[in-house]
Amino acid sequence: MVKICCIGAGYVGGPTMAVIALKCPEIQVAVVDISVPRISAWNSDALPIYEPGLDEVVKKCRGKNLFFSSDVEKHVSEADIVFVSVNTPTKTQGLGAGKAADLTYWESAARMIADVSKSNKIVVEKSTVPVKTAEAIEKILTHNSKGINFQILSNPEFLAEGTAIQDLFEPDRVLIGGRETPEGQKAIKALRDVYAHWVPMDRIICTNLWSAELSKLAANAFLAQRISSVNAMSALCEATGADVSQVSHAVGKDTRIGPKFLNASVGFGGSCFQKDILNLVYICECNGLPEVANYWKQVIKVNDYQKTRFVNRIVSSMFNTVSGKKIAILGFAFKKDTGDTRETPAIDVCKGLLGDKAMLSIYDPQVSEEQIQRDLSMNKFDWDHPVHLQPTSPSSMKQVSVVWDAYAATKDAHGICILTEWDEFKTLDYQKIYDNMQKPAFVFDGRNIVDVAKLRDIGFIVYSIGKPLDEWLKDMPAVA
Ligand code: NAI
Repeated sequence: MVKICCIGAGYVGGPTMAVIALKCPEIQVAVVDISVPRISAWNSDALPIYEPGLDEVVKKCRGKNLFFSSDVEKHVSEADIVFVSVNTPTKTQGLGAGKAADLTYWESAARMIADVSKSNKIVVEKSTVPVKTAEAIEKILTHNSKGINFQILSNPEFLAEGTAIQDLFEPDRVLIGGRETPEGQKAIKALRDVYAHWVPMDRIICTNLWSAELSKLAANAFLAQRISSVNAMSALCEATGADVSQVSHAVGKDTRIGPKFLNASVGFGGSCFQKDILNLVYICECNGLPEVANYWKQVIKVNDYQKTRFVNRIVSSMFNTVSGKKIAILGFAFKKDTGDTRETPAIDVCKGLLGDKAMLSIYDPQVSEEQIQRDLSMNKFDWDHPVHLQPTSPSSMKQVSVVWDAYAATKDAHGICILTEWDEFKTLDYQKIYDNMQKPAFVFDGRNIVDVAKLRDIGFIVYSIGKPLDEWLKDMPAVA
């Protein structure tokens, strides 16, 4: 029986391994983590992450061929294939601070693998890492190997949170990079055989190690670039009276461009886009390519500009101050169908409003008060460490309250900001909400999900990104 072990029971490790276990009943899969609470949650009825369809998959396999354990060393030593899916934060100190990847967790995992291994192993890089990381890991393993053969593969994960299970069931492609030696090719084949249980062969792409590593960074950079491109257009639309939804629809009809990822919004978030682009920028700089580095850096700058622009719109529309005013924040997760708040634009928007002394009342159907308070008091980049190693937050902020209902959040508020495109926000009783708010009542839709005309008929002053401006907002400065 083939044994797989995955180090890191997070958003990637958990769902990916659950699907491998489901699709490959004859393979034994163990997911291990240094975080004991995380492992306990995986073994309970309340899984540590919210992902549509995940519960069913886990329930079908857990205890049969899928195990979650904090006994990291035991499972690693028994495995034939070891996936590494640990955190790869952005460095906050030293060389490359603010850009380069901090490979501390990866390196400690590699050293531990070398330490405990008694048989040959395939080590699979699942975390997103800079190009040439596999080479460094290979050196750590072979220099500490005691005669054991390690083959390193790069198998970056392309799942998107919120649709992770669907993405894993039917991936656009699976990418496997390995050494171009006979042993490397043999390792590639072994991993390909795992995926071939359910992924058609023509969707499994095999490359060299560096191409696989770079493809992951490139894919995220291209995706984020589309969002920054349409967001840049949204600012121009507001200035000219064009409607960004009409523009992106027309643009997306071009088959060379396509319709996906062309929705204007308050900005992209999530644990990967910014981090991976910063990584790419750093690699370009290290390779003497400043023009290329600056090109990609601009994608992040436009994203920051979009968030600042949104906050400025709010403040300038509300008589240039939100001090002491209650603002309802609907949605805190970085997108719908996930409880993940890592790098969510809501953090920057809320911090911007708090900077102007607003009183925030926040509601998100999947994010807890503790998480929101922690996010609003954490330093940049601190989130990407195992939970028990994150700096503990100081006392919670008094200007922030977290409620469990959109109607409670909006009661007596002066304005509403929609920051996540949860479906339930489309069907709220906006008349009831309007009746219970201070007047004039404002809606700032950061995801373009409300029916603007309907809300204006009710009496709201509505700002919707990239749409023709409400009379109220015309001539008010909002440029960041
Ligand atoms: P995560 O933070 O949810 O999970 C990482 C886990 O690794 C944590 O539970 C942590 O306790 C554990 N860990 C860290 N060091 C360890 C060690 N030495 N031994 C055992 N466990 C250890 O992170 P997530 O989101 O799963 O991401 C993992 C990697 O996958 C990152 O490199 C990320 O960039 C990449 N990725 C993430 C995607 C996403 O949508 N979240 C998509 C594709 C790639």
